Amino acid sequence: MRKICIINQKGGVGKTTTTVNLAAGLSRNDRKVLVLDLDAQGNIASCLPVTSQKDIFNFLLENADIGECITPMGRNLDIVRSNERIAKAEYYLSKEKFKEGVLRKRMQDIKGYDYVLIDCPPSLGLLNQNAMLYATEAIIPTTTEPLGIEAARKMVEILKQINDVFEHNISISKVVPTFFDRRNKICKTIYNEIQNEFYELTSDPIRINSKLKEAPLKKLSIYKYDKNGNGSKDYMSLVKSVMRDEPRFQEVGSSQPAEAVSG
Ligand SMILES: Nc1ncnc2c1ncn2[C@@H]1O[C@H](COP(=O)(O)OP(=O)(O)OP(=O)(O)O)[C@@H](O)[C@H]1O
Ligand SMILES: [Mg+2]
Repeated sequence: MRKICIINQKGGVGKTTTTVNLAAGLSRNDRKVLVLDLDAQGNIASCLPVTSQKDIFNFLLENADIGECITPMGRNLDIVRSNERIAKAEYYLSKEKFKEGVLRKRMQDIKGYDYVLIDCPPSLGLLNQNAMLYATEAIIPTTTEPLGIEAARKMVEILKQINDVFEHNISISKVVPTFFDRRNKICKTIYNEIQNEFYELTSDPIRINSKLKEAPLKKLSIYKYDKNGNGSKDYMSLVKSVMRDEPRFQEVGSSQPAEAVSG
């Protein structure tokens, strides 16, 4: 089971869009996927028609059974939605004995998925620390603008710190350049910088595409909303490249990151 957090402390870089369309794309390729929404904005529920009564707060802090918190979206995709109450989770988590390890503990018996994807909030708080400590991989969406690459660098440092402080083994599996506009010189410059800095971790860019903005309004993935458009092509290319990494993970079920971020 690959456990991947989609994370960047910077807001509005495409984390939720990437989570939704990566999850939908993987599930279309016969991978069984669980999505956890850790963001109080609850954006996954704005993007997809989730209906479960219980949510991530009930699961994380009230010991609710995950089955009660899941909305099944077809054969291969389960979603645990968020709720604005999760904003209070930081407070409750801070009272736990191992406050950064609550999600990992709650997830220890969850099996049967090929992928668990976590949509993270734009912060550096306890919820994200929990996500990083559970996940063994991070995907970092990064805007192709100067502040974007700065945020990605910072994220790499944070992941190193998490590994060092908690003797954890999270690795970066993709840096995903987002909001790419090939007509814009600065976008191309920053994209090249991202490639130089992150080498083979850099995925093909996700182009700016208004359909990606519209799809959530219809609560559809990009593959249903605009099957043949650039958004579909770009995200399916990311899906395929994430799947190509599967052999590096010895067994779907016990992730063995090939190259951990170390200090
Ligand atoms: N490639 C794209 N082209 C055009 N619009 C996009 C693209 N990717 C995302 N968007 C839009 O940009 C906005 C921010 O994207 P998204 O919500 O995925 O970012 P985020 O990193 O999850 O934000 P937050 O940090 O607030 O959680 C959304 O309105 C989304 O629909
Ligand atoms: Mg988001």
